[in-house]
Amino acid sequence: MKGKFITFEGCEGAGKSTQMRLLSEYLKERGIAHTVTREPGGGQISEEIRKVILNGKFTDMTDECEALLYAAARVQHLADTVAPALARGEIVLCDRYIFSSYAYQGGGRGLERRFLEEINSYAVRNFMPDLTLFLDIPPARAFERKHGADKEDRIEQAGEAFHRKVYESYRALLAEYP
Ligand code: TYD
Repeated sequence: MKGKFITFEGCEGAGKSTQMRLLSEYLKERGIAHTVTREPGGGQISEEIRKVILNGKFTDMTDECEALLYAAARVQHLADTVAPALARGEIVLCDRYIFSSYAYQGGGRGLERRFLEEINSYAVRNFMPDLTLFLDIPPARAFERKHGADKEDRIEQAGEAFHRKVYESYRALLAEYP
C-alpha cells in the first residue's frame, strides 16, 4: 500500500509547525499511521546539511551552493525518511518541500527556475506531494508574530525585501499549482 505525501509551505512564522502538530494529533487520535518530518532535515545527514545552510556565519555562501545544498538535503531525506514511510502506507507530513526552493532560491535569491527544476529533478524524481498546504501569511505579519528574525539563521536574516519576494513567489506558485 502506498501512503500519502502532504507538504506544508509558507513564510517564516506562518504557523506551519502548529498546524502540523494539530493535524498529527488528529491522526493519532484516530490511530492513523503517519510520520512528521521537515526540510531541510529529518534524517541525520540532512540535519547536518541544514546546519551548514542556515549557519549565520556563512555570509559568503553563493546562491547556487545554497540551492544545491537544499537539493542534496532533499534527496537524502526522501531516501531515508519519506520513501520508506510512504512504502509502509503512512501519511507523511513534511514541513517544506520543493516549492520552498522555487520561492526562496527562485523568487528570493533570483535563481532561474530552469536551474532549480533541473537540480531538483535529481532530488525529487517521482516524489511530488499528493497535497500541498500553503499558509498564506505575509512575512511582515509573520515576523511580528515571531518577534523578529532569528539572528543565528542566515535565511531569516536575508532582509525584508527578500522575504517579500519569497511571499510574492509563493502567491505566483499558488496560481500555477492551484
Ligand atoms: P524552516 O525550518 O521551515 O524555518 P521556519 O520554521 O523558520 O519557517 O526552514 C528553514 C529555512 O530554510 C527557512 O528559512 C526556509 C528555507 N528553505 C529554503 O530557502 N529553501 C528550501 O528548499 C527549503 C526546504 C527551505
